[in-house]
Amino acid sequence: MIEPFSTIDLISTKRDFGELSKVEIDWIIDAYVRGVVADEQMSAMAMAILLNGMSMREIVDWTQAMINSGERLDFSSLSPATVDKHSTGGVGDMITLPLAPLVASFGAAVPQLSGRGLGHTGGTLDKLEAIPGWQANLTNEQMLNQLHQVGAVICAAGAGLAPADKKLYALRDVTGTVPAIPLIASSIMSKKIAEGTSALVLDVKVGSGAFMKTIEQARTLAKTMVEIGNAAGVKTKALLTNMEQPLGKAAGNALEVRQAIEVLNGAGPQDVIDLTVELATQMLALVGITGIDVKENLENGKALAKWQQLISAQNGDLSKPLPAAKFTHEIYAADSGTIAKFDALSVGIAAWRLGAGRSRKEDSVQAAAGVTWTIELGQKITKGEPILTLHTDEESRFDSAIAALESSVVISQGESVAKPNLILDRIGE
Ligand code: URA
Repeated sequence: MIEPFSTIDLISTKRDFGELSKVEIDWIIDAYVRGVVADEQMSAMAMAILLNGMSMREIVDWTQAMINSGERLDFSSLSPATVDKHSTGGVGDMITLPLAPLVASFGAAVPQLSGRGLGHTGGTLDKLEAIPGWQANLTNEQMLNQLHQVGAVICAAGAGLAPADKKLYALRDVTGTVPAIPLIASSIMSKKIAEGTSALVLDVKVGSGAFMKTIEQARTLAKTMVEIGNAAGVKTKALLTNMEQPLGKAAGNALEVRQAIEVLNGAGPQDVIDLTVELATQMLALVGITGIDVKENLENGKALAKWQQLISAQNGDLSKPLPAAKFTHEIYAADSGTIAKFDALSVGIAAWRLGAGRSRKEDSVQAAAGVTWTIELGQKITKGEPILTLHTDEESRFDSAIAALESSVVISQGESVAKPNLILDRIGE
């Protein structure tokens, strides 16, 4: 086959700050999947995009080309409409677990295709696999049936969705080109649009424990993703939320599932409840369900009943206890005063070193490992109070986890410390 474009010409266009046309973008993505564009050429292209950016039109076309590289699920036969949430990932971010059943308990359908964790942020599938028997892999037909019968499904994204993104993401991972906003936005949105949802709420995390460290970066990413979604006919909104301190009171697979169950029983940490209710309200509004008290279904058992159906439909056995770690280690407050810093990234790294996360894709995770804590920013504390508990099945992991937490907590004796806002901005209102 005679190829219509020269890869070198297209790389040179981006190197020299030019714009690629839609046909050029369609071709390079397709040719990359076919192996005609080599990895070293796509690496150069990714680096040119990272350095010189892309226009919004190019980003929309790039996303569409990645969607077209695979299958696109179709849930249009479902009534009510489908709505999903995507979080850019943070420490203790188990919101999907209470959120999907809560939204489904009001009659919307939630197709939540999720991933596994890599590094310090946990993956939803790893968390749910802490429940004895729970199955992450479903066929498209099983997904559709479950959406009809239960109204929610949380499962692994199949290999057929946006295969160009899979190949490109693995390449970006080893070429220093992950943090390019056009590439991050198109990567996330290609999978969400291919998944077939009619509406989407994005939770873009900002702060030490997040991908985006500054509010400006997070705002640009959120605006880009909202534009891509709306251009593809998916009603899309975004919240920017704080990830300077970890969310809730636990990081680690079974530990986060336990916390999700508390929230579904009308209890649990206030920040997790607030974020779950806010995201659910936004999701339901996008599919026309308004004028309701969203929190009520966390308190009256309806969201809990939906969770039980959702987990049992995927063979999860909630009557069996969640795994508990063989060893725990407490860390105590070194001073009295007010919590002035509680660093999300350090907690994420500690949980990872305790065995909750993986370093390479093929590693397994410990279901029971992780960190729990009692503190939050602005809280008063007395010297000697327990503030953090480390959990692991391998005692030898404690030292490196304790080292990660060395300067994670700062207790101030001076002026009072304001409690930070959880929701920092809204995009697409
Ligand atoms: N998550 C994704 O799916 N893609 C990226 O590029 C970054 C985070």
